[in-house]
Formats: sequence, C-alpha cells, structure tokens
Amino acid sequence: MHLRSALGHLGKLRAKRVRKCQKWGKPRSGSVIKQKILVTGAAGYLGSILCGRLLEAGYDVLALDNLFYGDCSLFHYCAEADFDFVQGDTRDEALIRSLLPKVSAVIPLAAMVGVGACKGDPAMTRTVNLEAIQMISRLRSPEQLVVYPTTNSGYGTNSDEVFCTEETPLQPISLYGETKAQAEALLLESPNAICLRLATVFGFSPRMRLDLLVNHFVHAALTDRRAGVSGRSQGRPGVRAGGLGLAR
Ligand SMILES: NC(=O)c1ccc[n+]([C@@H]2O[C@H](COP(=O)([O-])OP(=O)(O)OC[C@H]3O[C@@H](n4cnc5c(N)ncnc54)[C@H](O)[C@@H]3O)[C@@H](O)[C@H]2O)c1
Repeated sequence: MHLRSALGHLGKLRAKRVRKCQKWGKPRSGSVIKQKILVTGAAGYLGSILCGRLLEAGYDVLALDNLFYGDCSLFHYCAEADFDFVQGDTRDEALIRSLLPKVSAVIPLAAMVGVGACKGDPAMTRTVNLEAIQMISRLRSPEQLVVYPTTNSGYGTNSDEVFCTEETPLQPISLYGETKAQAEALLLESPNAICLRLATVFGFSPRMRLDLLVNHFVHAALTDRRAGVSGRSQGRPGVRAGGLGLAR
C-alpha cells in the first residue's frame, strides 16, 4: 500500500471521529476536531519530514525520539502550537502507556536502521525494531491505526525474480531486514494496521543520511568525483523523501 492511501486512511479516521462527536452533540459549525498522531523516531531522516507534512495536513503531532542523532532536525517545528515533543525511549512501556491515550494513530519510525547499525548491536536491534512494535501493538486499542514503514531489502534475495511485487515473499538476509519483516508480520495479524514497504528513500532531510544508496552515490560523486558499484547487476527501487512526505 502507498503512503498516499495510508494518509487517506488517516483522513477517513478524522472524518469518522468528527461525525461521532457531532452525534454526541458537540458543536457542529466552526469547530475543528484535530487528530493527534504519535510519531516515534520523529527526529530521524523520515520522521523530521513527516512531522511537517502531518502538521500541514492539519494533524496534531506528538513526536517521540531519544535524540540519538541530536535535536536539530526538529527545531523548526518547536514554535508550532500543534507540535509536542517528548524525549524518551520507544521501549519504555510506562511512557508509551502514558502517550497512547492521547492519540488516534501511531506511526512507529523509531528503529535501529540499516544493516551495519543492527550488526553492531543485535540485542538493541531486537528490542527496538521488534519488541517495541510488539508492545505498541499490544497496548493500543483496536481503533488506533498503526502505519508502519518496513523495508524492501529482503526482496528477491533467493527467488531470483527480476521484478518483485507485494506478493513476492520477503527473504531478509540481515538482522535489520529480519526484525523489520517480523514486526510487519505481527502488525498485519492485528486489526487496523497498514504496512508500507518503502523503496529506498533518497533526498534531503533535516536529519541527513548519507548511507542511503542514492544519497551515498551523490555524495561520493561530489566529494570523491566517483561513485563505485560492485557486485552483480541488481535493480533497486528508490523514492524521493520529499515525494513521500507530500503524499496525503
Ligand atoms: N530511509 C529509508 O529508506 C527507509 C526505507 C524503508 C523503511 N524505513 C523505516 O523507516 C523508519 C525510519 O527510518 P529513517 O531512515 O528515518 O532512520 P533514522 O535512523 O534517521 O531514524 C530513526 C530515529 O529513531 C530514533 N530512535 C532509535 N532508537 C530509538 C529508541 N529506542 N527510542 C526512541 N527513538 C529511537 C533515532 O534517534 C532516529 O531519530 C525505520 O523504521 C526504517 O526501518 C526507512
């Protein structure tokens, strides 16, 4: 499913809530009932773009991050009345219990991201990428939508398929891919969850990542004047970070 459809789903949720409140006799005209979305990993490469797009689309944002990469990527939202930030750990059950009742949907982005980072700390990877998602899924109510981005990095590793589709089984070969695929599977077994198998994102973000394929090529080409490619011929889809954020 595309991010556009997922955010469309959030829109329907907002309309449903407005209708419910109207039924309960709350003021009808001129009243704007805003949905609050919990974004974990909000200070990251995707989160720091997504928070802005959600605010533009009229949502309140409750942002959670442990600020592992610093706090600069969210500075520009701090003056927004609809933006709240909590510094904390997505694995902290007491914290998640206290935040969930305030929101109608969760976008859990907090993760150990990338093959190298996960290899460096397998125990942390399992607790952040899998157990924290399990916990959020267990603690949320069935009415609270989860929109979860997973990775496409496990596609086609053993099947030798040239073009992979959503039906192609994920066959992750790294701990990163494995924990993301396991988290996706558990969410898809629960109600009201949407998983987005994102192409590799590229482009500018307030929390810049130069380890992503296209970003790495561009950076290498600009600084070293060459970008090296090794290994057998492979194709990999990419999606522009700004384009993702623009989807409604
Ligand atoms: N960027 C991509 O191309 C891509 C593609 C597919 C899926 N994804 C998924 O999107 C999500 C975000 O990826 P990203 O590229 O923004 O990575 P990122 O590393 O920039 O962002 C992750 C954020 O999570 C935070 N975080 C890490 N551990 C935490 C913890 N224990 N508690 C609270 N916060 C914590 C980090 O501080 C960081 O701000 C990840 O789940 C990733 O698997 C990304």
